[in-house]
Amino acid sequence: MLADSILTRVWEIADSYYAKHDWAHGRSHIERVLKTAVEIGKREGANLEIIELSAILHDIFANEEKHTGVEGFRHEIEASKEARRNLKRLGLADKTVEAVCHCIESHRKRTGRIQPQTIEAKCLFDADKLDCIGAIGIVRSAYMALTEGQEFYKQEDIDAYKRRNIRQDGTIIDYAQHSSNLEYELSLKEVAKRMYTETGKRIAKERAAFMDEFYQRLGKELKGII
Ligand SMILES: [Fe+2]
Ligand SMILES: [Fe+2]
Repeated sequence: MLADSILTRVWEIADSYYAKHDWAHGRSHIERVLKTAVEIGKREGANLEIIELSAILHDIFANEEKHTGVEGFRHEIEASKEARRNLKRLGLADKTVEAVCHCIESHRKRTGRIQPQTIEAKCLFDADKLDCIGAIGIVRSAYMALTEGQEFYKQEDIDAYKRRNIRQDGTIIDYAQHSSNLEYELSLKEVAKRMYTETGKRIAKERAAFMDEFYQRLGKELKGII
């Protein structure tokens, strides 16, 4: 495992980017992803140092991407570059730095252009996606919708919505027009099928079933059927 002094410095760097009270992409998301990624990593025989470093730094530009609204700004690419600069400054070996950067640049699900190639990158990818589904995924999705000023549930034809508010590259044009169930239909529904590791697949299957039941029930309740 990493020396405490390195870990402390990496957390200090991370904390200068993450909002404390952002439940979706802030410190609490990072702590959940870290815990899950390490658990998956142990079962998959991965290098836990690489997993720890990449989990802590993977989303440092997630909020910036959302709020700058600049087309072409990709938080996984920018975070990877920033991680490389910072980790080199801390004196970590080039091999370690490059392995961490690959995990970060390949962690994005919907519009990711770089696929995870190493077991560590696969563990981070799976852990990050697991935070979007299941009971935690529902609560996180509600938090994101409400903090973005969105409705939690919107009834809209998914193809019409895609034409109206989703760019060619899959990114969202106006976050205020998005909603939790549209995010579920567009992306979260497919997350369990995207897992790379056997451990991730097993956990995702259970979480996805729970989440699917929730949205089906919610849809019926909002129609007044049950
Ligand atoms: Fe991310
Ligand atoms: Fe993340």
